[in-house]
Amino acid sequence: TKRLNIALLPGDGIGPEVMAVAEHALTLLIDRFQLPLTYTSFPWPSHAWHQQHGHMMPEDGVKQLRSFDAIILGALGDPGPLDAPDRFVLPDSISLSPLLALRKQLDLWACERPARWQPGAPQYLSDPRANDVDMLVIRENSEGEYSNQGGRLRAGTPHEVATQVEVFTASATERLIRHAFERARQRAKQRPIPRHFKDEKSAQVCLITKRNAQPFWGDLYTETFLRLAREYPDVDTHHELVDAACMKFVQCPWRFDVVVASNLHGDILTDLAAVLCGGPGLAPSANLNPEDGSIPALFEPVHGSAPDIAGKNLADPRATLLSLAMTLEWLAHHHPALGNAAQHLHDTVNADLAKEGDTSPQHRQEKGTLETGQRLYALLAQ
Ligand code: IPM
Ligand code: MN
Repeated sequence: TKRLNIALLPGDGIGPEVMAVAEHALTLLIDRFQLPLTYTSFPWPSHAWHQQHGHMMPEDGVKQLRSFDAIILGALGDPGPLDAPDRFVLPDSISLSPLLALRKQLDLWACERPARWQPGAPQYLSDPRANDVDMLVIRENSEGEYSNQGGRLRAGTPHEVATQVEVFTASATERLIRHAFERARQRAKQRPIPRHFKDEKSAQVCLITKRNAQPFWGDLYTETFLRLAREYPDVDTHHELVDAACMKFVQCPWRFDVVVASNLHGDILTDLAAVLCGGPGLAPSANLNPEDGSIPALFEPVHGSAPDIAGKNLADPRATLLSLAMTLEWLAHHHPALGNAAQHLHDTVNADLAKEGDTSPQHRQEKGTLETGQRLYALLAQ
């Protein structure tokens, strides 16, 4: 069997704390399932590396990471305390650039963010149907609002004009939407027809745009969606404007299955979807290139570096653990043991959640990052 290599990038803020738990869980799983897998931790990209070297990662950083089979990132970004102006502070444009560079340069164009409520997780909605939430948001990850083109004319003057150009290409739109239809089909095969689906079709895709105000890319998305939908007659199709989608995510989130959205719309909707499933401490994500299996996928919790709670044993490591489970699942075609380990980790996190109730460290200080880790290690080894 091929020996697989995973790169661990703890990053900044709470990143190193949640990654330490994931790393320990990984060593337990490697032992227990005899996984053909090793891992390497990197001190970059990080604020600390920048302080020493003047940049977030080595020049050949992306090249180094490309040789791995998968990458797991903790979190990036550390604006520093606002009340200590002489502390070395990095603007987001620098500290977050490695994440955007990795997505772009590795061509990880599909961002998958599953949102499924699990028993024991905080439930912020009172309608009991909210416990049936089970959606997959697929976010465009390579262009759109994140194209980083534009500039500031007459910057700093009262006559300043800032432009932020959004670029949407037919090829990126087509591959994204096709991927959404494919994933909807796969999901339908793995479950009975959800009881909240109105139509008899077992799968659906909801397209998100803001085509009433942004018709150029809105129409490109809509036309591509309608054309591809003809190839998937088994998949029910919907469209929501992004603002209306926000309302419906709160009013009736159980009606959604696969949701496909642009880069920025997907970013915003996935924070909302994370809260529907108990909060940022439980939301994992994958950045993938579904067309090219030789490119390492990048897995990360949906949450950020949360510098306000860093170093306080308050971060919830479970979003990172669930991201590790997604990593192992993604690698499972190499060896069945990886699929078993992924399932075991996923089931263990959920079993503990069901048993303990809401143990997110921010709610129950006595159950911090380390304690959550300890509880899970004991279960993982069983
Ligand atoms: C995310 C994050 C990033 C994004 C930030 C840190 C640039 O919010 O992964 O959702 O907007 O993509
Ligand atoms: Mn985000």
